[in-house]
Amino acid sequence: MKLTVVGGGSTYTPELVDGFARLRDTLPVEELVLVDPAADRLDLVGGLARRIFARQDHPGRIVTTSVLEEGIEGADAVLLQLRVGGQAAREQDETWPLDCGCVGQETTGAGGLAKALRTVPVVLDIAERVRRANPDAWIIDFTNPVGIVTRALLQAGHKAVGLCNVAIGFQRKFAGMLGVTPGEVHLDHVGLNHLTWETAVRLGGPEGEDVLPRLLSGYGDTIAADLHLPRPLLDRLGVVPSYYLRYYYAHDEVVRELKTKPSRAAEVAAMERRLLEMYADPALDEKPELLAKRGGAYYSEAAVDLAAGLLGGGGSPYQVVNTHNRGTLPFLPPDAVIEVQAAVGQKGATPLSVPAVDPLYAGLMAQVTAYEELALDAALRGGRDRVFRTLLAHPLIGQYEYADTLTDQLIAHNREHLAWS
Ligand code: G6P
Ligand code: MN
Repeated sequence: MKLTVVGGGSTYTPELVDGFARLRDTLPVEELVLVDPAADRLDLVGGLARRIFARQDHPGRIVTTSVLEEGIEGADAVLLQLRVGGQAAREQDETWPLDCGCVGQETTGAGGLAKALRTVPVVLDIAERVRRANPDAWIIDFTNPVGIVTRALLQAGHKAVGLCNVAIGFQRKFAGMLGVTPGEVHLDHVGLNHLTWETAVRLGGPEGEDVLPRLLSGYGDTIAADLHLPRPLLDRLGVVPSYYLRYYYAHDEVVRELKTKPSRAAEVAAMERRLLEMYADPALDEKPELLAKRGGAYYSEAAVDLAAGLLGGGGSPYQVVNTHNRGTLPFLPPDAVIEVQAAVGQKGATPLSVPAVDPLYAGLMAQVTAYEELALDAALRGGRDRVFRTLLAHPLIGQYEYADTLTDQLIAHNREHLAWS
C-alpha cells in the first residue's frame, strides 16, 4: 500500500508517522511519500520519520519529494494537510477581524473565509493532478476549513472524505472517564466541521445505552472546564458542544481575550521552530512530547482508521467524517457537507441516520451551511461582492458595516494568494 502526504513537511507529520508505525496491523503501509515544496523542512521531517519507522522495526519505505507528480504516482490514498501561506497567513486571519469586534480564528468567522479563499483553488489543483495520475486514489482531506474544502472536492467529483480530530478527541476523553476502551464508545456526533455537538455517548455501538447524562453528572465540571464554558450552560444544553462552539456561545468574551494575548499562530510558530530544531537531532527517533501541545491530538489514529476503512484493510466500521448530507439532516441541502458518524468502506462513507435535531442546533447549522455554500462560490469565482455576501451571511458577522470593512481587510491581507484580487 502506498500513501502520500501532501504537506508532508509539516511539523505534524511525526504524529502521523508514529500512528502508521504503531497501527501497522490496521494499515500496512509499504511506502509513505512526504510531498512538500519546502525542501529544508522535508529533509528534517523525513529524517525523523525514517528513524521512527526504524525504531519500531517498520518495514515500510519513506520517500520525500518536492515534485507532486512523483509523489502521487501509484498512491492508493493521498492525505492533504497543507496550509497555504503558512502560520504567517494564519496570524493575519486571527488578527484583523478583531478590529471589528469579531472573532479572529483560522477556521471560524472572517479568518476562516480568508483561509478558504486561499486554500480551495490550491487543493482543487492538487486533486485534479491526483485524479490524472490515479483516478482510483482516495483523497483524505485534513486541510482546513475541512467543511468547505471537502465540499469543493466533492462538487468537482473527486473521491474525497474530510477528516477532523474533534470527535476522536471526545471519544478518547469519554472512554477514559468511563473506564472503557475507545472502541466501546460510540458518539452521536452531529453538525458541520468545527460546529458539532455530541448529543449522546453510547456504549458498544450505535444502538448502545446512552451514558451522556451519567457523564455530565459525574464529570460535568471537567468537561466544562476543558471547553472553557460554564458548567450550568452544559447542564442546560444537556449535550456537549465542541470547543469551536465557544466562538459562538461566548463570542464577545473570546474577542476580549484574543485582544490581550498573543495569537495562536505566534504560539504555534514558536513551537514549530523548536520542533524543527529537535527533529534535526539524529538521536531523536520518536515523536517529541512538545507535539502534544498542538491541537492535532489523535489525528494519526483517525487518519489510519479512515484510510484502513477506505482501502479495505479494516478500521472501525463507523467513523466520524465529513461527507455529503444526502438527506441525513433533512433541514440542509443534499450537497451540504456534514460531519457525522458514517459507515466507512471501500465505496466511501455513508452517513448513519441521525435522530431529529433540536432547533437550537439545527438553526445554527443551517445558517453556517448557507455561509459555506457562499464561501465556496466566492473561492471558485472570486470578486469583492461575493466575499461581502458571504461575510454578511455569517452568523458571527451579519451587519453590513462589519461585512464591508472585513471584506476590504480580507482582500488587502490576502492579495498575493487571490488570483482575482
Ligand atoms: C484541531 C482541529 C484542527 C486544527 C487544529 C489546530 O486539531 O481539529 O482542524 O488544525 O486543532 O491546532 P493548532 O495546534 O495548529 O492550533
Ligand atoms: Mn479540525
